[in-house]
Amino acid sequence: MKVLVLGSGAREHALVRSLAADPEVTELHAAPGNAGIGAEARLHPLDLTDPPAAVALAREIGPDLVIVGPEGPLVLGVVDQLRAAGFTTFGPSAQAARLEGSKAFAKDVMASAGVPTAMAHVCDTLEEIEVAFDQFGAPYVVKDDGLAAGKGVVVTDDRTAAREHARECLAKDGGRVVVEEYLDGPEVSLFCLSDGDTVVPLQPAQDFKRVHDGDLGPNTGGMGAYSPLPWAPPDLVDDVVARVVQPTVDELRRRGTPFVGVVYAGLALTSRGLRVIEFNARFGDPETQVVLARLRTPLGHVLRAAATGALHDLEDLRWRDGAAVTVVIAAENYPGAPVTGRVIRGLDDADAVDDAYVLHAGTATDPDGSVVSTGGRVLSVVGVGPTLAEARERAYEAVDRIDLEGGHHRSDIALAAELGEVRVP
Ligand code: AMP
Ligand code: GLY
Repeated sequence: MKVLVLGSGAREHALVRSLAADPEVTELHAAPGNAGIGAEARLHPLDLTDPPAAVALAREIGPDLVIVGPEGPLVLGVVDQLRAAGFTTFGPSAQAARLEGSKAFAKDVMASAGVPTAMAHVCDTLEEIEVAFDQFGAPYVVKDDGLAAGKGVVVTDDRTAAREHARECLAKDGGRVVVEEYLDGPEVSLFCLSDGDTVVPLQPAQDFKRVHDGDLGPNTGGMGAYSPLPWAPPDLVDDVVARVVQPTVDELRRRGTPFVGVVYAGLALTSRGLRVIEFNARFGDPETQVVLARLRTPLGHVLRAAATGALHDLEDLRWRDGAAVTVVIAAENYPGAPVTGRVIRGLDDADAVDDAYVLHAGTATDPDGSVVSTGGRVLSVVGVGPTLAEARERAYEAVDRIDLEGGHHRSDIALAAELGEVRVP
């Protein structure tokens, strides 16, 4: 099987790494990729915001399966165009990807499907926003309706700051704001494969969204993750499939826009039960890095089954025992405008740590062969081990061997879980 992966993050590096280990996968291509992906797949230049260019590239390569990583191209309809050109593609159509692309659409689907989520008001004016603030009270949760790379959400007790964020979102072209009730309790990410009909859950993971230790500072795309969740209720996955993901997939099919790809359920386990915080229409980053670290079933085989409507025939997924932890190394000033172009040293030393490896995100290879930073999230260092504590230790040992000027990472990824301090209220 010849596979083409679109994207350039550590999530795509994780996908490519797993695909490279699948005996059915005979040839791997990625576009545009990064320095790390380039070591395992043939790279092709591509502007991910240009779906016709993706089709042209697929025509050149002739893949048996195309996998689309990031949300941007999905919302732009790259999957529709690839399928129309005859390529077997893993990812949702533009219509189905609105589950992520529009929070208002997602709320509407959840309402029709009876899926538990935060109460919310979709607001077009500052007056409506004030009414919603009065109704829900603090902490205020204010979300940009459209795609914002995980940075469109502000959760704050400060009404002035909440109002200011809402004003900025409204000022955008077609700007709309969603104001929600605050959800307490730990967060869980559960990825489920869907072929439009059958749902196959992967293992749950937890992401760390805030930039600083102790969940302080602004939201980011994600600073680290771990899996499994030792504190999660044993029936969590079955419960989420039954009450959240299957009803959502059924509702999208009923609307004539079946969802093929990953339904990423971002959940809060609150004092009043399970609630959906958000849906994404793709694998999450950095959770994918830890979930795939534990998946034993060959990935190409699984994703092709999803892309071809064959999930009902797929054998049960097999998982490695033990745990995986990933720590993101981010560029100076991320999640603000990141400082790029810095040489990264120590990558080989980090990879030499037993049971650890380095996945690349914003990296490129300079003409002189050195690896330089090109984005906000630069690397995602993965450690695996029989326990969360050991996986954590491996990951941080490798992180400590990497040298990126101005680079920063969280030092508390998976720590509360390791210490048994995560509680479901
Ligand atoms: P989202 O982009 O919707 O996933 O939101 C990003 C992050 O903001 C989430 O992972 C949560 O940590 C936080 N968040 C979003 N919605 C809520 C809510 N209703 N209550 C509490 N925290 C929230
Ligand atoms: N881990 C958050 C995301 O992928 O959106």
